[in-house]
Amino acid sequence: SFTPAHFVEESIAAIKEKVGNEKVVMALSGGVDSTVAATLIHRAIGDRLYCIFVDNGLLRKGEFEQVMEGYKHLGLNVKGVDAKQRFYDELAGVSDPEGKRKIIGKLFIDIFQEEAIELKDVKFLGQGTIYPDVIESVSVNGPSVTIKSHHNVGGLPEKMNMQLVEPLRFLFKDEVRRAGKELHLDDIFLKRHPFPGPGLAIRILGAITPEKVAMLQDADHIYIQALRDSENYDKVWQAGTILLPVQSVGVMGDERTYEFTVALRAVTSVDGMTADWAHLPYEFLAKVSNDIINHVRGINRVVYDISSKPPATIEWE
Ligand code: XMP
Repeated sequence: SFTPAHFVEESIAAIKEKVGNEKVVMALSGGVDSTVAATLIHRAIGDRLYCIFVDNGLLRKGEFEQVMEGYKHLGLNVKGVDAKQRFYDELAGVSDPEGKRKIIGKLFIDIFQEEAIELKDVKFLGQGTIYPDVIESVSVNGPSVTIKSHHNVGGLPEKMNMQLVEPLRFLFKDEVRRAGKELHLDDIFLKRHPFPGPGLAIRILGAITPEKVAMLQDADHIYIQALRDSENYDKVWQAGTILLPVQSVGVMGDERTYEFTVALRAVTSVDGMTADWAHLPYEFLAKVSNDIINHVRGINRVVYDISSKPPATIEWE
């Protein structure tokens, strides 16, 4: 069985042994996996760990600033890179989900490389890969099935000719959280829902515009805040809003509107591989729907996704 204290101790010793006096560079995402992995590496080698956090313009509202602040508290050596416009430019007009993932994955690697090259002589690449990532990426690359190309696994090491440091490679999500607790990480990291690497890009069905991103960020913020306020946040595995590519008719005062629909998604799960839609109270859904429609310009309809995985997936793209 998994013992967090034992894991942390062994893992730090193994990283020290592997890395010696060399440097490690690592991309952070704000998620629990990369944060726990970085904290372990930092405990092992201190400021020879160089972290990079890229703002791709597809994060949640205010998340970049909030997460940078959290990293500062942890004493991690993190450089924040504002690349919002580069991502918006490259994504303009692209609506195919895999096309979006490829563009985001490639641009992310380009930016990460530009930053890593400046550090000079870095031999190791830290990654927060966990066991389910390893399994899912096998099926992604398998001979007959293509599920989704999760860009957070693979790609980087071959291009950069670096050795991997992946302290969480054999852990499941709940074990990562327990290890994080052992490391005294704050709940803002430990209890954070998983969030996909391509971010809001795969929650805007169809082509992405900065205006749509802003609209979805506002709707998402209302939903997530309401989940927190009602103490439902910790009861679900993951939640988010999806901006649908359809407009429908509504009324506002005496005016007829023709605006977008947002779908709310919340699921319970153990590992993300299977998931059930979360049975959130009707009163809660009613309040979120009202708040979104009343406060987010451009949205006149809210629906709740009651599909489970399989056959549906958690994300809509
Ligand atoms: P699905 O939609 O396949 O999602 O049921 C399962 C879990 O994976 C996340 N996800 C991704 N994570 N890059 C990521 O880093 C991706 O392209 C990607 N697609 C889905 C999803 O948010 C859920 O937690």
